Amino acid sequence: MEAEVKRIGRRATPGVQIPAPRKLDPQTLAYPFSAELAWTAVNYLRTPSRVLWRLAELSSRRLEPLFDEIVAALSNRSVDWLGSAKSLSVEVRRIGDFPAGPLQVRGAAKSAIVEAARQQGHRLSLDPEDPERLFVVEVRDDEAVWLSIDLVGRSMHQRGYRKARGEAPLRENVAAQLLMLARWDPRREALVDPMAGSGTIAIEAAAMAQARPLWCDGFGPIGARLPPIEPIAQRFLPALFADAQPPVLANEINSETIRAFRENLHRAHVADRVQVIHGDFRDLRADRVQAAVKDAEAGLVLANPPYGQRAEGKGAGDPEIAALYDDLAQWWRRLGPGWRFGILSDHPDVTAIFGRRPSLEKPVSNGQLKAWFRVYSAPETN
Ligand SMILES: C[S@@+](CC[C@H](N)C(=O)[O-])C[C@H]1O[C@@H](n2cnc3c(N)ncnc32)[C@H](O)[C@@H]1O
Repeated sequence: MEAEVKRIGRRATPGVQIPAPRKLDPQTLAYPFSAELAWTAVNYLRTPSRVLWRLAELSSRRLEPLFDEIVAALSNRSVDWLGSAKSLSVEVRRIGDFPAGPLQVRGAAKSAIVEAARQQGHRLSLDPEDPERLFVVEVRDDEAVWLSIDLVGRSMHQRGYRKARGEAPLRENVAAQLLMLARWDPRREALVDPMAGSGTIAIEAAAMAQARPLWCDGFGPIGARLPPIEPIAQRFLPALFADAQPPVLANEINSETIRAFRENLHRAHVADRVQVIHGDFRDLRADRVQAAVKDAEAGLVLANPPYGQRAEGKGAGDPEIAALYDDLAQWWRRLGPGWRFGILSDHPDVTAIFGRRPSLEKPVSNGQLKAWFRVYSAPETN
């Protein structure tokens, strides 16, 4: 994620020094707060699921002192955290070994925030469905309790373009993570998804190459109304690399899913950036792929096939699934030298089927589902 922050930050805010982050855990980086960097992050970073503004680090290990500490921490600072907000919600993300349940911590934090607002002359009421401020409480491993504001107000994978979905769609930020993990280089590589479903990988690829803003109509981040961010939130958000136009090709067999895919492409404003093919990938010949991506020196195939528990209950041993994976490996080899292959699957035999060791092998979760992401380098010859 640090590479993504640098690429985007340098382009969005040229001349602004990007500080080195602190790595809190394998998934979390902490940067000193700056409204510019925070606003850039919530609008352009495609891989994270959350961007939080940490307001206070608290040391209480019981509920009553936690209440007092939150009131003191918020009352002692300007109302930069509040602005004109009238409603709030509180999420407790992790509780560690805090000696109270999440509901109790949530209740104490909510009452403390409302009290701090009251002391500063504001009235805040609870709105769990559509809050103007979403506060997050989490007990970090060093036992400190962090109180933060979620700058988006929901998980960042809900970008607003995927109203229609196919079978077992990938989360949008997980699709972006796969592209980053595979080190897809849109300046020289084409991208092909042979089993594209509702198109998440292709849409993320086209949008990531151009560094387009994340949000589709009406899906903006609620942090736009925070006092430090409000003045810069008025600015127009351009695509940061608008002239990057890598070939992106996506194939899908199911007619209804293809319809959903096309709708999603339009909502994501990348319909002109993705070539869509309807059919069985087995019929997608290498010369057709080559013709579609003619300007690219090389390519990355990124596939998220039906697998194991997702494949309508069929396990990896099912003959249909086994044949599908065999055919996929053969289809990839037929593309010829220059084509790398990335695959997200929990099929246990992927490496045996592909007949080579992956250059990358990493567990990846898509919501509750756990799978492996593997990347195979291009075959030397076909
Ligand atoms: C796990 S889903 C892909 C989900 C996709 N990544 C998304 O985010 O929407 C697998 C897709 O492969 C498609 N599929 C299955 N067999 C296929 C084939 N032989 N050729 C092309 N697509 C196929 C299914 O219709 C399904 O949409």
